[in-house]
Parts: sequence; C-alpha cells; structure tokens
Amino acid sequence: MAIERTFSIIKPDATRRNLTGAINAKIEGAGLRIVGQKRVKWAKADAEAFYAVHKERPFFNDLVAFMISGPVVVQVLEGENAVARYREVMGATNPANAAAGTIRKEFAESIEANSVHGSDSPENAKIEIAQVFKPDEIVG
Ligand code: PPS
Repeated sequence: MAIERTFSIIKPDATRRNLTGAINAKIEGAGLRIVGQKRVKWAKADAEAFYAVHKERPFFNDLVAFMISGPVVVQVLEGENAVARYREVMGATNPANAAAGTIRKEFAESIEANSVHGSDSPENAKIEIAQVFKPDEIVG
C-alpha cells in the first residue's frame, strides 16, 4: 500500500475543551504522521465553501455556524491507507454509533459537535488539502 494523505479538522467543540493534544495522540498512536497543521478561525465563507457539497441538507446552516463558533485545527495526515485509517480512528459520524476507543466515542458531544472531520476518499482528500494548505505548508 502506497503512502497516502488525508485532510483532517479538529473542530471547535474540541479546541474549546483543549483536546487538540489528546486527539493528536490518537492520530499519532494510529501510525499517522501530522505533516501539516495550523490553528485558524474560519470566516463564514470558508465554512460554506468547505461544506458546499452539503448545502441542500437541512443541517447546513447549523453546521456552518458551528464550524465558525471557535478555532479549528486543520491538518494533513500521512501514512499507509491514511484516508481509511483515519476514518477508523475517528469512528462513526454520530458518536452514539462510534466504536470504543475512537476519537468520536471518547470526545464527541453530538452528531454536529463531533470533534473531527476526515476526508471520505483519496480524491476528496486532494481537493480538501488544496483548498486549505499551500504546498510549502506541508512538510513530509
Ligand atoms: S453524508 O451523508 O455521509 O455525506 O453525511 P455525514 O457524513 O453523515 O455528515 C456530513 C457532515 O455533516 C455533519 N452533520 C450534521 N451537522 C449538524 N447536524 C446534523 N444533524 C448533522 N448530520 C451530519 C457531520 O458532522 C459531517 O461533518 P464532517 O465534518 O463532514 O465530518
């Protein structure tokens, strides 16, 4: 399996509760390397652009409002099978359905305040990384 990259967000519910380090420990413990990372406060337009694929969903406005309610930590993670591996580490979108030991089971508050985002495919990972990171901000 070739080395792959995925895009991650540590969401405002987690930065608010000072969980960045605990989440990064789970990421690194799973064998993923954090090769890009920055803490930013998204503007409404940033969140709307990032979640444009969900703009017809009933929760879109709430999701955008949540994602700009505090700082986020955006990341590029690298490793074997990184997209699928990170989705395993995150656990199910709804923490009520997340497996024991996953980030969302341990830390998430709700389906909205679910602590982390991870790309759902290698193709989307490339798009999401390019949306948020300049090439020289990623150091493998
Ligand atoms: S899908 O159908 O797989 O595309 O959707 P899903 O992955 O379940 O959810 C996409 C993102 O929307 C968030 N979400 C919600 N936010 C607020 N309220 C409700 N009800 C809700 N349902 C889903 C969910 O946290 C996902 O965020 P990301 O950042 O993509 O993980």
